[in-house]
This record gives sequence, structure tokens and C-alpha cells, in this order.
Amino acid sequence: MKFEPFQLEREQSIWENKVDYNLSESGVHPGTIKSLFDSEFIKKIENTELTYGFTEGSPELRQSIASIYPGASPENVQAFNGSAEANMVAILTLLEPGNEMVYMVPNYLQIYGFARGLGVNVKTFSLHESLNWQPDLDELKSLVTNKTKMICICNPNNPTGAVLPKEMVHQIGEIAQSVGAWILSDEVYRGAELNREECTSFWDLDYEKTIVNCGLSKAYGLPGLRIGWSVASTDTIQKCWATHDYTSIAIGRMSDIIAAHVLHPTLRMETLNRTRDALTANLGLFQKWISEFDSKMRFIPPEAGAMAFAGYDWNINSTKLIEKVREEASVMLVAGDWYGMDHYLRFGYGAKQLDLEAALDRITPIFRSL
Ligand SMILES: Cc1ncc(COP(=O)(O)O)c(C=O)c1O
Repeated sequence: MKFEPFQLEREQSIWENKVDYNLSESGVHPGTIKSLFDSEFIKKIENTELTYGFTEGSPELRQSIASIYPGASPENVQAFNGSAEANMVAILTLLEPGNEMVYMVPNYLQIYGFARGLGVNVKTFSLHESLNWQPDLDELKSLVTNKTKMICICNPNNPTGAVLPKEMVHQIGEIAQSVGAWILSDEVYRGAELNREECTSFWDLDYEKTIVNCGLSKAYGLPGLRIGWSVASTDTIQKCWATHDYTSIAIGRMSDIIAAHVLHPTLRMETLNRTRDALTANLGLFQKWISEFDSKMRFIPPEAGAMAFAGYDWNINSTKLIEKVREEASVMLVAGDWYGMDHYLRFGYGAKQLDLEAALDRITPIFRSL
């Protein structure tokens, strides 16, 4: 078993804490415990015994998560250390070496690399810029056969920020059901929609072989808690819980308590609205910045998430370009190369507004000089 380097995460691990301005993030800038919570709740955290807690996630947390998905109960939920672990456990639990997966690209590529490392045969279908980063479902249909064990979706999408309309979610569901394939939908950016309407989850399909993964890192702006989850049939959740015994046993006890609080129906929208306010303000700033380069850059604004994915016409490779920006301006951007798409860049625009402004000011002369 050999895993190819996960280039995006590798580069972030090396550089994100070394640069002055990190525009490689895809979520909004997180708050502090003190700024986010009242003193009564902070007392509760202070007085928490640091036990293992519930290895499936506490009943309060699983109830809060279940309430996001109509018809779900806590038995449909397993908590994980980040949606990254939820993705990994889903693959370990549902697939075997030699199985075939059909995978949406561009994409975060964790599932892609992990599944390939396990010996899964991964075929890709594309989101097309010419279709406003939507898929061509005829292309998907042509790839899905009786051998397909799983279709993998990232919705809202990383890096394009595109959202699948409800009809398309159901059409993809029909394609999966026609061959009895699993649907694994990574929905970690759900809730961070700029139009403030939560997009359709694949949970809406009501199809037994659907697993929806999500977490607190992006739309909720709380990556330091490392909280993720899977929502699926009770049988699938039982199996994922058993796999989790081998990966990390349990989520952190403090993270569990904070996550249950943040996701409680009385608080959840407050958190998401904070994200949406920040994204709306910052996207305006970014659009103003990129408009100076519109003869050289193409940009379809994201519908969700803190990522602006832009193509460019300068004659410079995307890795070379982000290295130049990092070395000359101490700003980290994401190279299209890390998605297998040279001549694109991903700008994380979810930073603190002053930092975003300062970072864009610093990189402007470099882009003018290209
Ligand atoms: C689509 C997608 N899934 C999963 C993850 C991992 O997130 P988490 O912090 O929840 O593990 C990321 C991180 O960027 C992501 O973009």
C-alpha cells in the first residue's frame, strides 16, 4: 500500500505558518473561545472532565447534528476528528481494493489519493468551467457501470465554490441507484452559501446507500476543534463506528461539548450567518481586486465557501507563480497544479478583512509585473 503525496495539504503543512498572510485557507477566519461563547458556557468547558466520552459522539452532539438532516436521528450519526477522518473511514468501511469509484474533479483530492493508495480504481468526471463549474451528467452516465461501487461528490465544491442544484442532486442519485452504487457526498462547505440558502444535501435522496460527510472546519469556521461527522443509515453508521475504533477511537471531549453547543438548533444559524456576513464583505473586496486583471484572469464567483478559483493567461506555471508570490510577498496562494489544473489559482478570501486587504495590496505589484 503506497500513498501518493497529498500535495495541497503537504504544501499547506510546510508553509501556512511561515508566511505573513495565508490565503491558502478555504474557510473563514476562526474566532477565539472568549469571543464566541458566554461566560456560563466557558465555565462549563472549564469544568469538563477530560474523559474519552462517547466514542460515537455524545448524545447531545449527535442530536444536534441529526437535527440538520430531516428525518435523521442520533443513530444515523457518527462523529469524527474532522471530515477528513469521516472520509477516510467511509472509504475503509465501504470499499475494497479493486473496487471502482467515480470521482468528481476538480476536488480536494483527499478521497482520491487515499482510495488509490488502498488499491481502488478511481475514474474521474469533470465540473466544466464552460458550464459554470457544473458537471455534464451524460459524461457521468457514460462512466458509471455495474462495476461502479461508489460515486464521490464534493458539494459545495472545493475549489470552485459551485453548488449543484437540487434537480442535479436527484439526477446523480438516480444514476447511482441505477447500478446500486454508494454515494459519498463531502459537504463540508454546506452552510457557507453566499445567497444564505442552505444547498440541497444528498441526504435529501433518501437512498439507503448514501453517506454524507461534513464538519465544523469551513462553514462554521472552527477547524481547530477537528470535528466532522457522517450521516448515513443506522447499519452503515454502526460499521463506520467499528472502523473508527481502529483510527482514532473518539473525538476530543472538549471539542464534543463545544460542537454540540455550536450546532444546537438555537445557535447554529448564528454561526453560519457570521460566516456568510464575512464572506459577502470579503468577496466584494476580492472582486474589486481581480477586476484590475480581467484582461488576463477569468473568475466565476463562488456560490459557497471562502475560495475564489480563477484561471489566468500569463505564461507562467501555477506552482512557479505561487512560489514567486510566497517568496516576494510572503503570501500563500494555492496553485492550480495541486488540483491537476495548471494556469489556475485558488485565493482563500475568508481571512480577516484587514489581512485580506494587506495581502492583496502586497501581491498587486507582482501580478502587474507578469
Ligand atoms: C472538501 C473537503 N473535505 C474535507 C476537508 C478536511 O476538512 P476537516 O478539517 O473537516 O478535516 C477539506 C479541507 O480543506 C475539504 O476541502
